[in-house]
Amino acid sequence: MSNKPAILAIDQGTSSTRAILFSATLDKLAVYQKELTLQYPQKGWVEQKPEAIWQDTLEVCRKVLDKVPNGASSVAVIGITNQRETSIIWDRTTGKPVYPAIVWQDRRTTSFYEKLKQWGHEPLVTAKTGLLLDPYFSAGKIAWILDHVDGARNWARSGELAFGTIDCYLLWYLTGGKVHATDATNAARTLLFNIHTQQWDEELLTLFGIPDAILPQVKDNAADFGVTDRVLFGREILIGGMAGDQHAALIGQGCIAPGMVKSTYGTGCFALMNIGQEFRASKHRLLTTPAYRLAGKTTYAIEGSIFVAGAAIQWLRDNLEFFSDSAMSETLALSVPDSNDVYFVPAFTGLGAPYWQSDVRGMIYGLTRETTKAHITRAALEAQGFQTRDLITAIEGDGGYQASVIRIDGGLVANQFMCQFLADMLGRPVEVPVITEATALGAACLAGITVGLFPGLEVMQKNWRCERIFQPVMPEDVRARLYTGWRAAVEKLL
Ligand code: G3P
Repeated sequence: MSNKPAILAIDQGTSSTRAILFSATLDKLAVYQKELTLQYPQKGWVEQKPEAIWQDTLEVCRKVLDKVPNGASSVAVIGITNQRETSIIWDRTTGKPVYPAIVWQDRRTTSFYEKLKQWGHEPLVTAKTGLLLDPYFSAGKIAWILDHVDGARNWARSGELAFGTIDCYLLWYLTGGKVHATDATNAARTLLFNIHTQQWDEELLTLFGIPDAILPQVKDNAADFGVTDRVLFGREILIGGMAGDQHAALIGQGCIAPGMVKSTYGTGCFALMNIGQEFRASKHRLLTTPAYRLAGKTTYAIEGSIFVAGAAIQWLRDNLEFFSDSAMSETLALSVPDSNDVYFVPAFTGLGAPYWQSDVRGMIYGLTRETTKAHITRAALEAQGFQTRDLITAIEGDGGYQASVIRIDGGLVANQFMCQFLADMLGRPVEVPVITEATALGAACLAGITVGLFPGLEVMQKNWRCERIFQPVMPEDVRARLYTGWRAAVEKLL
Protein backbone atom coordinates (compact mmCIF):
# COMPACT_ATOMS: atom_id res chain seq x y z
CA MET A 1 0.00 0.00 0.00
CA SER A 2 1.22 3.49 -0.73
CA ASN A 3 1.52 6.07 2.04
CA LYS A 4 -1.61 7.82 0.82
CA PRO A 5 -4.24 8.15 3.56
CA ALA A 6 -6.64 5.31 4.15
CA ILE A 7 -10.09 5.20 5.73
CA LEU A 8 -10.92 2.59 8.34
CA ALA A 9 -14.56 1.52 8.29
CA ILE A 10 -15.98 -0.38 11.25
CA ASP A 11 -19.13 -2.34 10.44
CA GLN A 12 -20.62 -3.83 13.59
CA GLY A 13 -23.50 -6.05 12.38
CA THR A 14 -25.84 -8.44 14.16
CA SER A 15 -24.00 -11.59 13.12
CA SER A 16 -20.48 -10.29 12.59
CA THR A 17 -18.06 -7.47 13.20
CA ARG A 18 -15.92 -6.30 10.33
CA ALA A 19 -13.18 -3.76 9.71
CA ILE A 20 -12.39 -2.68 6.17
CA LEU A 21 -9.61 -0.40 5.03
CA PHE A 22 -10.44 1.71 2.00
CA SER A 23 -8.04 3.84 -0.01
CA ALA A 24 -8.59 7.54 -0.52
CA THR A 25 -10.26 6.59 -3.81
CA LEU A 26 -12.58 4.17 -1.97
CA ASP A 27 -10.96 0.98 -3.23
CA LYS A 28 -11.02 -1.92 -0.81
CA LEU A 29 -7.52 -2.57 0.60
CA ALA A 30 -8.01 -5.09 3.39
CA VAL A 31 -10.79 -6.76 5.37
CA TYR A 32 -10.95 -8.60 8.68
CA GLN A 33 -14.12 -10.12 10.05
CA LYS A 34 -15.29 -12.06 13.08
CA GLU A 35 -18.62 -13.81 13.71
CA LEU A 36 -20.62 -12.60 16.71
CA THR A 37 -22.93 -14.83 18.70
CA LEU A 38 -26.41 -14.10 19.96
CA GLN A 39 -27.98 -15.37 23.17
CA TYR A 40 -31.62 -16.44 23.49
CA PRO A 41 -32.20 -16.55 27.28
CA GLN A 42 -35.99 -16.92 26.95
CA LYS A 43 -38.51 -17.42 24.16
CA GLY A 44 -38.50 -14.30 21.98
CA TRP A 45 -35.54 -12.72 23.81
CA VAL A 46 -32.39 -11.89 21.84
CA GLU A 47 -29.29 -10.53 23.59
CA GLN A 48 -25.60 -9.96 22.96
CA LYS A 49 -22.63 -9.39 25.23
CA PRO A 50 -21.60 -5.71 25.00
CA GLU A 51 -18.04 -6.59 26.10
CA ALA A 52 -17.77 -9.05 23.18
CA ILE A 53 -19.03 -6.39 20.76
CA TRP A 54 -16.31 -3.99 21.92
CA GLN A 55 -13.52 -6.60 22.13
CA ASP A 56 -14.36 -7.96 18.66
CA THR A 57 -14.40 -4.44 17.25
CA LEU A 58 -10.99 -3.70 18.68
CA GLU A 59 -9.64 -7.03 17.47
CA VAL A 60 -10.89 -6.67 13.87
CA CYS A 61 -9.52 -3.12 13.68
CA ARG A 62 -6.09 -4.18 14.94
CA LYS A 63 -6.03 -7.25 12.67
CA VAL A 64 -6.95 -5.27 9.56
CA LEU A 65 -4.30 -2.65 10.38
CA ASP A 66 -1.73 -5.46 10.72
CA LYS A 67 -2.46 -6.39 7.10
CA VAL A 68 -1.07 -3.13 5.71
CA PRO A 69 2.55 -1.94 5.88
CA ASN A 70 2.04 1.38 7.66
CA GLY A 71 -0.66 0.14 10.03
CA ALA A 72 -2.51 2.78 12.01
CA SER A 73 -0.29 5.60 10.76
CA SER A 74 -1.85 5.29 7.30
CA VAL A 75 -5.37 5.91 8.60
CA ALA A 76 -6.68 9.43 8.08
CA VAL A 77 -10.10 8.87 9.57
CA ILE A 78 -12.51 6.25 10.91
CA GLY A 79 -16.15 5.70 9.96
CA ILE A 80 -18.56 3.63 12.06
CA THR A 81 -21.67 1.81 10.91
CA ASN A 82 -23.75 -0.60 12.93
CA GLN A 83 -26.74 -2.82 13.54
CA ARG A 84 -29.42 -0.35 14.56
CA GLU A 85 -31.86 -0.21 17.51
CA THR A 86 -29.86 -2.70 19.63
CA SER A 87 -29.64 -0.96 22.99
CA ILE A 88 -27.05 -0.81 25.76
CA ILE A 89 -27.08 1.09 29.04
CA TRP A 90 -23.79 1.50 30.88
CA ASP A 91 -22.29 3.16 33.92
CA ARG A 92 -20.60 6.42 32.95
CA THR A 93 -17.87 6.00 35.58
CA THR A 94 -16.85 2.39 35.04
CA GLY A 95 -18.06 1.94 31.45
CA LYS A 96 -19.67 -1.32 32.57
CA PRO A 97 -23.03 -2.21 31.00
CA VAL A 98 -25.80 -2.72 33.56
CA TYR A 99 -27.47 -5.38 31.38
CA PRO A 100 -26.61 -7.23 28.13
CA ALA A 101 -27.36 -5.56 24.81
CA ILE A 102 -31.03 -6.07 23.92
CA VAL A 103 -30.94 -6.80 20.21
CA TRP A 104 -33.29 -5.27 17.63
CA GLN A 105 -34.88 -8.69 17.04
CA ASP A 106 -35.89 -9.06 20.70
CA ARG A 107 -39.66 -9.38 21.32
CA ARG A 108 -39.89 -9.17 25.13
CA THR A 109 -41.67 -5.81 24.97
CA THR A 110 -44.53 -6.98 22.74
CA SER A 111 -47.26 -6.47 25.38
CA PHE A 112 -45.79 -3.09 26.40
CA TYR A 113 -46.21 -1.85 22.82
CA GLU A 114 -49.65 -3.46 22.49
CA LYS A 115 -50.83 -1.39 25.45
CA LEU A 116 -49.44 1.82 23.97
CA LYS A 117 -51.27 1.03 20.74
CA GLN A 118 -54.54 0.29 22.55
CA TRP A 119 -54.23 3.60 24.39
CA GLY A 120 -54.07 5.31 20.99
CA HIS A 121 -50.47 6.57 21.05
CA GLU A 122 -49.34 5.29 17.66
CA PRO A 123 -50.45 8.22 15.44
CA LEU A 124 -48.53 10.77 17.55
CA VAL A 125 -45.41 8.59 17.72
CA THR A 126 -45.50 7.96 13.97
CA ALA A 127 -46.03 11.63 13.16
CA LYS A 128 -42.95 12.59 15.19
CA THR A 129 -40.60 9.71 14.47
CA GLY A 130 -41.71 8.15 11.17
CA LEU A 131 -41.75 4.79 13.02
CA LEU A 132 -44.44 2.45 14.37
CA LEU A 133 -45.01 1.03 17.84
CA ASP A 134 -43.09 -2.24 17.64
CA PRO A 135 -40.60 -4.08 19.93
CA TYR A 136 -38.04 -3.62 17.12
CA PHE A 137 -37.20 -0.08 18.27
CA SER A 138 -35.06 1.05 21.22
CA ALA A 139 -37.43 2.92 23.58
CA GLY A 140 -39.14 -0.22 24.91
CA LYS A 141 -35.76 -1.92 25.42
CA ILE A 142 -34.47 1.07 27.40
CA ALA A 143 -37.62 1.20 29.54
CA TRP A 144 -37.36 -2.55 30.16
CA ILE A 145 -33.77 -2.27 31.43
CA LEU A 146 -34.63 0.68 33.67
CA ASP A 147 -37.56 -1.27 35.10
CA HIS A 148 -35.76 -4.59 35.60
CA VAL A 149 -32.26 -3.71 36.79
CA ASP A 150 -32.28 -2.82 40.48
CA GLY A 151 -31.55 0.87 41.00
CA ALA A 152 -31.19 1.62 37.27
CA ARG A 153 -34.03 4.11 37.06
CA ASN A 154 -32.63 6.22 39.90
CA TRP A 155 -29.09 6.11 38.54
CA ALA A 156 -30.45 7.06 35.13
CA ARG A 157 -32.25 10.09 36.58
CA SER A 158 -29.14 11.24 38.41
CA GLY A 159 -27.05 11.06 35.23
CA GLU A 160 -24.90 8.11 36.29
CA LEU A 161 -25.96 5.94 33.34
CA ALA A 162 -25.57 6.40 29.61
CA PHE A 163 -27.72 4.88 26.85
CA GLY A 164 -26.48 4.16 23.38
CA THR A 165 -27.11 2.14 20.28
CA ILE A 166 -24.05 0.20 19.12
CA ASP A 167 -22.44 3.15 17.27
CA CYS A 168 -22.62 5.26 20.42
CA TYR A 169 -21.35 2.49 22.69
CA LEU A 170 -18.37 1.85 20.39
CA LEU A 171 -17.65 5.57 20.17
CA TRP A 172 -17.58 5.77 23.97
CA TYR A 173 -14.99 2.99 24.13
CA LEU A 174 -12.98 4.19 21.13
CA THR A 175 -12.63 7.63 22.68
CA GLY A 176 -11.73 6.24 26.10
CA GLY A 177 -15.09 7.30 27.58
CA LYS A 178 -14.71 10.91 26.46
CA VAL A 179 -17.53 11.19 23.90
CA HIS A 180 -21.16 10.24 24.34
CA ALA A 181 -22.68 10.92 20.93
CA THR A 182 -24.64 9.32 18.15
CA ASP A 183 -25.76 10.40 14.69
CA ALA A 184 -29.15 11.40 13.33
CA THR A 185 -29.88 8.07 11.60
CA ASN A 186 -29.23 5.97 14.70
CA ALA A 187 -31.06 8.41 16.98
CA ALA A 188 -34.03 8.18 14.63
CA ARG A 189 -34.46 4.47 15.43
CA THR A 190 -35.11 4.94 19.15
CA LEU A 191 -38.73 6.25 19.02
CA LEU A 192 -37.47 9.17 21.13
CA PHE A 193 -36.10 11.41 18.40
CA ASN A 194 -38.28 13.88 16.53
CA ILE A 195 -37.16 13.64 12.91
CA HIS A 196 -38.70 17.04 12.03
CA THR A 197 -37.03 19.08 14.76
CA GLN A 198 -34.00 16.73 14.77
CA GLN A 199 -34.04 16.71 18.57
CA TRP A 200 -34.87 14.35 21.41
CA ASP A 201 -38.58 14.84 22.01
CA GLU A 202 -39.81 15.61 25.54
CA GLU A 203 -43.31 14.28 24.92
CA LEU A 204 -41.92 10.96 23.71
CA LEU A 205 -39.47 10.74 26.61
CA THR A 206 -42.41 11.21 29.00
CA LEU A 207 -44.51 8.64 27.14
CA PHE A 208 -41.80 5.99 27.46
CA GLY A 209 -40.69 7.13 30.92
CA ILE A 210 -37.09 7.73 29.91
CA PRO A 211 -34.94 10.41 31.62
CA ASP A 212 -33.11 12.66 29.18
CA ALA A 213 -29.95 12.46 31.33
CA ILE A 214 -29.06 9.14 29.69
CA LEU A 215 -29.23 10.36 26.10
CA PRO A 216 -26.26 11.06 23.80
CA GLN A 217 -25.67 14.19 21.76
CA VAL A 218 -26.90 13.81 18.17
CA LYS A 219 -24.61 14.82 15.30
CA ASP A 220 -24.65 14.91 11.50
CA ASN A 221 -23.49 11.75 9.74
CA ALA A 222 -20.27 13.40 8.63
CA ALA A 223 -18.94 15.21 11.70
CA ASP A 224 -16.15 15.37 14.24
CA PHE A 225 -17.01 12.56 16.67
CA GLY A 226 -13.74 12.87 18.61
CA VAL A 227 -10.47 10.97 18.44
CA THR A 228 -9.51 7.46 19.45
CA ASP A 229 -7.77 6.92 22.77
CA ARG A 230 -4.03 6.82 22.04
CA VAL A 231 -3.60 3.46 23.81
CA LEU A 232 -5.80 1.64 21.29
CA PHE A 233 -3.87 2.13 18.03
CA GLY A 234 -0.72 3.93 19.20
CA ARG A 235 -1.99 7.31 18.04
CA GLU A 236 -5.12 9.42 18.00
CA ILE A 237 -7.32 8.94 14.93
CA LEU A 238 -10.32 11.10 14.12
CA ILE A 239 -13.73 9.43 13.98
CA GLY A 240 -15.40 11.40 11.21
CA GLY A 241 -18.41 9.41 10.04
CA MET A 242 -21.24 7.47 11.59
CA ALA A 243 -24.51 6.02 10.30
CA GLY A 244 -26.85 3.10 10.91
CA ASP A 245 -25.96 0.24 8.60
CA GLN A 246 -28.93 0.52 6.25
CA HIS A 247 -28.45 4.27 5.82
CA ALA A 248 -24.74 3.73 5.19
CA ALA A 249 -25.58 1.07 2.60
CA LEU A 250 -27.89 3.51 0.79
CA ILE A 251 -24.92 5.86 0.50
CA GLY A 252 -22.48 3.04 -0.37
CA GLN A 253 -24.82 2.00 -3.18
CA GLY A 254 -24.78 5.56 -4.54
CA CYS A 255 -28.55 5.93 -4.00
CA ILE A 256 -28.38 9.64 -3.34
CA ALA A 257 -31.00 10.77 -5.84
CA PRO A 258 -34.74 10.59 -5.07
CA GLY A 259 -36.32 7.36 -6.31
CA MET A 260 -33.17 5.23 -6.05
CA VAL A 261 -33.55 2.00 -4.08
CA LYS A 262 -31.18 -0.44 -2.41
CA SER A 263 -31.93 -3.65 -0.58
CA THR A 264 -29.39 -5.17 1.82
CA TYR A 265 -29.36 -8.88 2.74
CA GLY A 266 -27.61 -9.35 6.07
CA THR A 267 -29.15 -10.92 9.15
CA GLY A 268 -32.35 -9.19 8.10
CA CYS A 269 -33.29 -7.46 4.84
CA PHE A 270 -33.86 -3.76 4.59
CA ALA A 271 -34.98 -1.93 1.45
CA LEU A 272 -34.69 1.86 1.41
CA MET A 273 -35.82 4.36 -1.21
CA ASN A 274 -34.30 7.84 -1.16
CA ILE A 275 -37.23 10.33 -1.22
CA GLY A 276 -35.28 13.59 -1.05
CA GLN A 277 -35.51 16.40 1.47
CA GLU A 278 -39.24 16.42 2.00
CA PHE A 279 -40.67 14.21 4.73
CA ARG A 280 -43.42 11.92 3.49
CA ALA A 281 -45.54 9.76 5.80
CA SER A 282 -46.06 6.14 4.80
CA LYS A 283 -49.55 4.96 3.90
CA HIS A 284 -48.48 1.30 3.77
CA ARG A 285 -47.07 0.76 7.26
CA LEU A 286 -43.50 1.39 6.22
CA LEU A 287 -41.08 3.68 8.00
CA THR A 288 -39.95 7.18 7.13
CA THR A 289 -36.40 7.58 8.30
CA PRO A 290 -33.57 10.07 7.78
CA ALA A 291 -31.44 8.65 4.97
CA TYR A 292 -28.62 10.96 6.09
CA ARG A 293 -28.10 14.39 7.64
CA LEU A 294 -25.28 16.48 6.28
CA ALA A 295 -24.49 20.06 7.28
CA GLY A 296 -27.76 20.07 9.22
CA LYS A 297 -29.87 19.15 6.16
CA THR A 298 -31.89 15.94 6.33
CA THR A 299 -32.61 13.72 3.35
CA TYR A 300 -35.33 11.12 3.98
CA ALA A 301 -35.93 7.54 2.96
CA ILE A 302 -38.90 5.21 3.03
CA GLU A 303 -37.83 1.91 4.55
CA GLY A 304 -39.20 -1.60 4.47
CA SER A 305 -37.71 -3.82 7.18
CA ILE A 306 -37.69 -7.63 7.21
CA PHE A 307 -36.35 -9.24 10.35
CA VAL A 308 -34.96 -12.47 8.91
CA ALA A 309 -32.99 -12.90 5.67
CA GLY A 310 -29.49 -14.42 6.02
CA ALA A 311 -30.53 -15.57 9.51
CA ALA A 312 -32.85 -18.15 7.90
CA ILE A 313 -29.92 -19.70 6.04
CA GLN A 314 -27.83 -19.60 9.20
CA TRP A 315 -30.68 -21.39 11.02
CA LEU A 316 -30.79 -24.14 8.36
CA ARG A 317 -27.02 -24.49 8.78
CA ASP A 318 -26.78 -24.38 12.58
CA ASN A 319 -30.11 -25.70 13.91
CA LEU A 320 -31.19 -28.16 11.21
CA GLU A 321 -27.62 -28.91 10.06
CA PHE A 322 -28.67 -29.04 6.40
CA PHE A 323 -25.18 -27.94 5.30
CA SER A 324 -21.94 -26.92 6.96
CA ASP A 325 -21.37 -23.72 5.01
CA SER A 326 -24.08 -21.19 4.03
CA ALA A 327 -22.62 -21.03 0.49
CA MET A 328 -23.75 -24.64 -0.01
CA SER A 329 -27.38 -23.51 0.15
CA GLU A 330 -27.13 -22.41 -3.48
CA THR A 331 -26.12 -25.83 -4.86
CA LEU A 332 -28.76 -27.48 -2.72
CA ALA A 333 -31.49 -25.10 -3.92
CA LEU A 334 -30.48 -25.67 -7.55
CA SER A 335 -30.55 -29.45 -7.14
CA VAL A 336 -34.37 -29.35 -7.42
CA PRO A 337 -36.40 -27.68 -10.18
CA ASP A 338 -38.66 -25.85 -7.73
CA SER A 339 -39.66 -25.80 -4.07
CA ASN A 340 -42.46 -28.29 -4.74
CA ASP A 341 -44.93 -25.73 -3.33
CA VAL A 342 -43.11 -25.46 -0.02
CA TYR A 343 -43.21 -21.95 1.47
CA PHE A 344 -40.87 -20.88 4.24
CA VAL A 345 -42.12 -17.84 6.17
CA PRO A 346 -39.10 -16.88 8.31
CA ALA A 347 -41.04 -15.01 10.99
CA PHE A 348 -38.72 -16.25 13.76
CA THR A 349 -39.01 -12.93 15.53
CA GLY A 350 -42.38 -11.80 14.18
CA LEU A 351 -43.18 -10.22 10.85
CA GLY A 352 -41.83 -6.79 9.98
CA ALA A 353 -43.02 -4.56 7.14
CA PRO A 354 -45.64 -4.33 5.85
CA TYR A 355 -47.37 -6.69 8.32
CA TRP A 356 -45.86 -5.66 11.70
CA GLN A 357 -47.07 -8.67 13.65
CA SER A 358 -44.61 -9.09 16.49
CA ASP A 359 -46.43 -12.07 18.05
CA VAL A 360 -46.44 -14.43 15.03
CA ARG A 361 -43.71 -17.02 14.54
CA GLY A 362 -42.07 -18.79 11.59
CA MET A 363 -43.66 -21.48 9.46
CA ILE A 364 -42.67 -24.00 6.80
CA TYR A 365 -45.83 -24.72 4.86
CA GLY A 366 -46.73 -27.30 2.21
CA LEU A 367 -44.64 -30.25 3.46
CA THR A 368 -45.35 -33.61 1.79
CA ARG A 369 -43.69 -37.02 1.81
CA GLU A 370 -41.57 -35.90 -1.18
CA THR A 371 -40.20 -32.81 0.57
CA THR A 372 -36.42 -32.86 0.96
CA LYS A 373 -33.99 -30.47 2.57
CA ALA A 374 -33.32 -29.12 -0.93
CA HIS A 375 -36.94 -27.96 -1.22
CA ILE A 376 -36.87 -26.35 2.20
CA THR A 377 -33.56 -24.60 1.47
CA ARG A 378 -34.89 -23.38 -1.85
CA ALA A 379 -38.04 -22.13 -0.14
CA ALA A 380 -35.91 -20.22 2.42
CA LEU A 381 -34.03 -18.46 -0.39
CA GLU A 382 -37.20 -17.83 -2.37
CA ALA A 383 -38.68 -16.21 0.74
CA GLN A 384 -36.17 -13.38 0.25
CA GLY A 385 -37.63 -12.68 -3.18
CA PHE A 386 -41.22 -12.79 -1.94
CA GLN A 387 -40.49 -10.60 1.06
CA THR A 388 -38.61 -8.08 -1.05
CA ARG A 389 -41.52 -7.92 -3.48
CA ASP A 390 -43.87 -7.19 -0.55
CA LEU A 391 -41.57 -4.34 0.43
CA ILE A 392 -40.89 -2.85 -2.98
CA THR A 393 -44.60 -2.79 -3.85
CA ALA A 394 -45.33 -0.91 -0.62
CA ILE A 395 -42.31 1.41 -0.97
CA GLU A 396 -43.28 2.44 -4.48
CA GLY A 397 -46.82 3.10 -3.27
CA ASP A 398 -45.39 5.46 -0.64
CA GLY A 399 -42.31 6.90 -2.22
CA GLY A 400 -44.03 8.20 -5.32
CA TYR A 401 -41.29 6.80 -7.59
CA GLN A 402 -40.97 3.62 -9.66
CA ALA A 403 -37.53 2.07 -9.35
CA SER A 404 -36.41 0.73 -12.71
CA VAL A 405 -33.64 -1.32 -11.05
CA ILE A 406 -32.91 -2.41 -7.51
CA ARG A 407 -29.34 -2.35 -6.20
CA ILE A 408 -28.63 -5.17 -3.79
CA ASP A 409 -25.80 -5.91 -1.35
CA GLY A 410 -24.91 -7.80 1.84
CA GLY A 411 -23.57 -11.29 2.45
CA LEU A 412 -26.47 -13.16 0.87
CA VAL A 413 -25.98 -11.63 -2.59
CA ALA A 414 -23.09 -14.07 -3.10
CA ASN A 415 -25.92 -16.56 -3.66
CA GLN A 416 -26.64 -16.30 -7.40
CA PHE A 417 -29.82 -18.35 -7.14
CA MET A 418 -31.23 -15.87 -4.63
CA CYS A 419 -30.30 -12.90 -6.86
CA GLN A 420 -31.92 -14.46 -9.94
CA PHE A 421 -35.08 -15.31 -8.01
CA LEU A 422 -35.17 -11.76 -6.70
CA ALA A 423 -35.04 -10.33 -10.24
CA ASP A 424 -37.76 -12.79 -11.31
CA MET A 425 -40.04 -11.94 -8.41
CA LEU A 426 -39.55 -8.19 -8.79
CA GLY A 427 -39.92 -8.37 -12.56
CA ARG A 428 -37.02 -6.00 -13.09
CA PRO A 429 -33.22 -6.07 -13.08
CA VAL A 430 -31.28 -6.28 -9.87
CA GLU A 431 -27.72 -4.97 -9.77
CA VAL A 432 -24.88 -6.27 -7.63
CA PRO A 433 -22.01 -3.78 -7.15
CA VAL A 434 -18.30 -4.59 -7.23
CA ILE A 435 -18.06 -3.75 -3.53
CA THR A 436 -20.89 -5.67 -1.88
CA GLU A 437 -19.90 -4.33 1.56
CA ALA A 438 -21.92 -1.21 0.74
CA THR A 439 -22.51 -0.59 4.44
CA ALA A 440 -18.82 -0.15 5.25
CA LEU A 441 -18.28 1.78 2.03
CA GLY A 442 -20.97 4.29 3.01
CA ALA A 443 -19.38 4.78 6.44
CA ALA A 444 -15.98 5.30 4.79
CA CYS A 445 -17.47 7.86 2.43
CA LEU A 446 -18.99 9.85 5.31
CA ALA A 447 -15.71 9.80 7.23
CA GLY A 448 -13.82 10.88 4.09
CA ILE A 449 -16.13 13.86 3.64
CA THR A 450 -15.29 15.10 7.15
CA VAL A 451 -11.56 15.20 6.43
CA GLY A 452 -12.01 16.71 2.98
CA LEU A 453 -11.07 13.64 0.94
CA PHE A 454 -14.37 13.98 -0.95
CA PRO A 455 -16.51 17.05 -1.54
CA GLY A 456 -19.77 15.18 -0.85
CA LEU A 457 -21.83 12.04 -1.42
CA GLU A 458 -21.65 12.53 -5.19
CA VAL A 459 -18.35 10.64 -5.04
CA MET A 460 -20.39 7.48 -4.46
CA GLN A 461 -22.45 8.05 -7.58
CA LYS A 462 -19.28 8.51 -9.61
CA ASN A 463 -17.46 5.55 -8.05
CA TRP A 464 -20.29 3.02 -8.04
CA ARG A 465 -19.48 0.05 -10.29
CA CYS A 466 -21.81 -2.75 -11.27
CA GLU A 467 -20.39 -6.27 -11.05
CA ARG A 468 -23.43 -8.20 -12.24
CA ILE A 469 -26.96 -7.57 -13.45
CA PHE A 470 -29.66 -10.21 -13.04
CA GLN A 471 -32.50 -9.84 -15.57
CA PRO A 472 -35.94 -11.27 -14.90
CA VAL A 473 -36.56 -14.40 -17.00
CA MET A 474 -39.44 -16.13 -15.22
CA PRO A 475 -42.68 -16.41 -17.23
CA GLU A 476 -45.37 -14.10 -15.87
CA ASP A 477 -47.82 -16.90 -15.03
CA VAL A 478 -45.21 -18.75 -12.92
CA ARG A 479 -44.27 -15.53 -11.15
CA ALA A 480 -47.91 -14.78 -10.37
CA ARG A 481 -48.63 -18.32 -9.17
CA LEU A 482 -45.63 -18.43 -6.84
CA TYR A 483 -46.35 -15.04 -5.34
CA THR A 484 -50.01 -15.91 -4.79
CA GLY A 485 -48.84 -19.02 -2.94
CA TRP A 486 -46.58 -16.88 -0.73
CA ARG A 487 -49.37 -14.47 0.14
CA ALA A 488 -51.65 -17.38 1.01
CA ALA A 489 -48.96 -18.86 3.28
CA VAL A 490 -48.42 -15.54 5.08
CA GLU A 491 -52.20 -15.09 5.49
CA LYS A 492 -52.26 -18.27 7.55
CA LEU A 493 -50.10 -16.56 10.15
CA LEU A 494 -52.04 -13.32 10.40
O1 G3P B 1 -32.33 -2.59 11.97
C1 G3P B 1 -31.50 -3.69 12.15
C2 G3P B 1 -30.39 -3.69 11.13
O2 G3P B 1 -29.67 -2.51 11.22
C3 G3P B 1 -29.55 -4.94 11.26
O3 G3P B 1 -28.76 -5.09 10.15
O4 G3P B 1 -27.05 -6.16 8.75
O5 G3P B 1 -27.27 -6.85 11.07
O6 G3P B 1 -29.02 -7.43 9.37
P1 G3P B 1 -27.98 -6.49 9.85
